[in-house]
Amino acid sequence: VEVRVAGGQRYEALIGPSLLEKAGALCRQLLRGPRCAVIADETVAPLFAQPVLQSLTNAGFAAELLTVPAGETSKTMAQANALCERLSAAGLDRSSFLVSLGGGVVGDLAGFVASIFLRGVPFVSLPTTLLAQIDSCIGGKTGVNSATGKNMIGSFHHPALVIADTATLRSLPERIWNEGFAEAIKHGIIRDRELFDSLADVERDDPVDFIARNLSIKAAIVAEDEREKGPRSLLNFGHTIGHAIERAAGYGNFLHGEAVSLGIVAAARVSVCRAGLSLGDCERIIALLRQRQLPTELLADLSREKILSALQHDKKFESGRIRFVVAHEIGRASIAENVTIDDLCAALA
Ligand SMILES: NC(=O)c1ccc[n+]([C@@H]2O[C@H](COP(=O)([O-])OP(=O)(O)OC[C@H]3O[C@@H](n4cnc5c(N)ncnc54)[C@H](O)[C@@H]3O)[C@@H](O)[C@H]2O)c1
Ligand SMILES: [Zn+2]
Repeated sequence: VEVRVAGGQRYEALIGPSLLEKAGALCRQLLRGPRCAVIADETVAPLFAQPVLQSLTNAGFAAELLTVPAGETSKTMAQANALCERLSAAGLDRSSFLVSLGGGVVGDLAGFVASIFLRGVPFVSLPTTLLAQIDSCIGGKTGVNSATGKNMIGSFHHPALVIADTATLRSLPERIWNEGFAEAIKHGIIRDRELFDSLADVERDDPVDFIARNLSIKAAIVAEDEREKGPRSLLNFGHTIGHAIERAAGYGNFLHGEAVSLGIVAAARVSVCRAGLSLGDCERIIALLRQRQLPTELLADLSREKILSALQHDKKFESGRIRFVVAHEIGRASIAENVTIDDLCAALA
């Protein structure tokens, strides 16, 4: 899938099995080096770092592996800072590049570090979760969380290349495989009813077309509106409340896709009231989330107050008003200006 962004810049997302072994040669076509650093989390590094480092070495790069603890709690400014120091210590300079190897957490963190280290070096993304392969690996949003909210500190920095090795998905625990479907269901709801209808049947053995279709939807939206002045906001469907839940529950207690699943249910309910989404479509959305074992009901022990207070910090709040994404039917969504905080309270209740 080709991603086109402002200023005529473009990059490719390659999708297929056994691509990690070719990473070095593929990087060689675009990047000079000689130094690079592979950033991975402590779960992913033992699984896949070896073939990647080997392939980079074979292509003539001097590659260093840097690991961070697994999970959302690594997406912090402190971790980004520590990585910058480690990159300096490892002797990386302006001709160097980074390789992010892992899920969306490592992708967002390493991409952010690539955007600030020496005022920006290139990075290559090797996504290894379904969520990262169908969504977070393209689009250029990088960043970390702050005390006030998800992704509050970050930058736009696109990868030079994305290599999605579908063989890496085989080792995903069921929960993390399922998590990715929240973003695919979102893509279906906002743009592609046919994709939505096919989601119940996606198998792990051969996900290439499924990944390509998801990335094509995202690439088309990003090409229209890279900096989220308009249509890119549609990709936030389910995320206003999803992000608030992630923060209110404490980062890492929900997987991102699980919080988004709850956010999608809330957004679907708001859409029934405010955008004419049929009850039938709303129920189909909830049924599909359930089928993927994603949560669709907020447990009573999570404080609604906390979620509402987290909502106030959302970047989608602009001077007190919220830009909330609603679906009119499965496959068609828009940004509503008529959604009130009371509507969100009702959906949360
Ligand atoms: N930048 C964007 O456009 C964008 C889009 C969507 C989500 N995100 C971000 O992505 C993050 C969520 O990403 P995620 O769900 O991939 O989480 P993650 O990166 O934490 O990965 C989930 C878990 O799976 C493990 N793992 C990764 N690959 C594996 C493999 N192949 N086999 C076995 N285990 C593996 C990881 O170690 C981790 O414990 C959130 O922080 C979210 O905000 C960013
Ligand atoms: Zn998301």
